[in-house]
Amino acid sequence: MPVSALVGLQWGDEGKGKIVDILAERADVVVRCQGGANAGHTVVVGGKVYALHLIPSGILRQGVICLVGNGVVSDPVQLLGELRGIEKLVGSCQDRFFISDRSHMVLPWHKELDGLAEERLGRSLIGTTRQGIGPAYIDKVRRSGLRWHHTRDRREFKRRFQASLLDANGVIAALGGKPLQERETLDTVLAAVEEMRGYVADSVSLLHRFLREGKRILLEGAQGTMLDVDFGTYPFVTSSNSSSGGCVTGSGLPPTSFDTVHGLLKSYTTRVGSGPFPTEVDEDTAIRFRGKGDQQWDEFGTTTGRPRRCGWLDLVVARHAVRVNGAGKIHLTKLDILSQFDNLKVATAYRIRGRNTSDFPSDIADLEKAEPVYKTLPGWLKPLPACQNILELPAEARNYVDFIAEFLETEVASVSYGPEREQTAFGQ
Ligand code: GDP
Ligand code: IMO
Ligand code: MG
Repeated sequence: MPVSALVGLQWGDEGKGKIVDILAERADVVVRCQGGANAGHTVVVGGKVYALHLIPSGILRQGVICLVGNGVVSDPVQLLGELRGIEKLVGSCQDRFFISDRSHMVLPWHKELDGLAEERLGRSLIGTTRQGIGPAYIDKVRRSGLRWHHTRDRREFKRRFQASLLDANGVIAALGGKPLQERETLDTVLAAVEEMRGYVADSVSLLHRFLREGKRILLEGAQGTMLDVDFGTYPFVTSSNSSSGGCVTGSGLPPTSFDTVHGLLKSYTTRVGSGPFPTEVDEDTAIRFRGKGDQQWDEFGTTTGRPRRCGWLDLVVARHAVRVNGAGKIHLTKLDILSQFDNLKVATAYRIRGRNTSDFPSDIADLEKAEPVYKTLPGWLKPLPACQNILELPAEARNYVDFIAEFLETEVASVSYGPEREQTAFGQ
């Protein structure tokens, strides 16, 4: 079966951009299925850094077709800006980039409402990326959203736009915000929509044609399983299904067409925004994981620039995520960052109200009480060698990788030890 999916197993930023870029070498089509510009996927090729938010990371491979699926929400102005920026670097994408006509738009009022909702929450804010993601999905679910196919009839689009803006302005005013000007907002969006017209396609027909032609399709997840609206740390999550189920509903490809689900696991844990994080470390240790912000891979948000919270690897989280996604291959990233620690802690269970459990709690009230039960593994305290095979890693690093594979009962297909394509070791 020619379809595989790639998903994050933690709270996002696991290094999906880098691994999609590697897997895209053997793909014909790469598809984003959910989320929007809350994602920030970094790919580094020959020292050059590319940060992608809406466009699939496969775009950097010449000849690979890239598609924004029906489950994604996108701001036309932002999408156009990102596309033109990428085209400057890789050439015209006119015949290899498409956006689903069923996908929904993020419009200026969604961003405004995102910010106002956060302000209203005060200290209990979610810490969203303020990209309008939640409000856009709210409109989708309450059946009042604008989809890309609505742009085919300009008058009809205007009508829907005006009605939604009127509605949103009422809420914005009630929340103490400044209502948006219709004329200005509409003109900006219409100009972008006009330029994007040639890229809008019926993605379901297109993808099923690719399936019939035997093309290899890679689905690029965004966020991570712990941010999934159903399986993550609700309510401190995003507003879509960022686990493999979202790859089905966000593309129109049936689960029976799936071959492999690749699970991305950072060698430690990070999280941006609020919410429980059992293995989080104190600030002095966090700085060691995070770096100072002067290297591009330091732990600062690709989309918002916020410092990421850091902690030890949590295998309770990882096992939950492997199960929910059906991840059959693990890609372990950022192993090089662990080279500075003499001992490595890995959580294998939680102690909650005096009892040990390895099941991930559904209620964050339990998670907030969870004390991680750690296993300590020896570090290697030297830079990792440039190698192509996992067997060439130092013994302690191999031991760390093997421990994860055994605990998760899943193959570790690759280990990444730097941001560049070449800094990757593979299993047999
Ligand atoms: P994504 O959202 O999952 O695509 O991840 P991000 O791109 O937001 O964050 C991952 C960061 O780590 C990026 O700056 C990558 O260039 C960098 N990166 C990826 N893999 C490795 C690795 O193995 N080692 C190091 N040091 N950096 C990496
Ligand atoms: P990638 O694809 C890390 C987090 C936000 C916030 C919560 C809800 O780069 O891994 P939202 O704006 O989605 O309503 O915010 O989800 N978040 C991410 N954290 N990586 C991401 O994407 C994220 N996308 C959203 O920080 O806590
Ligand atoms: Mg990211």
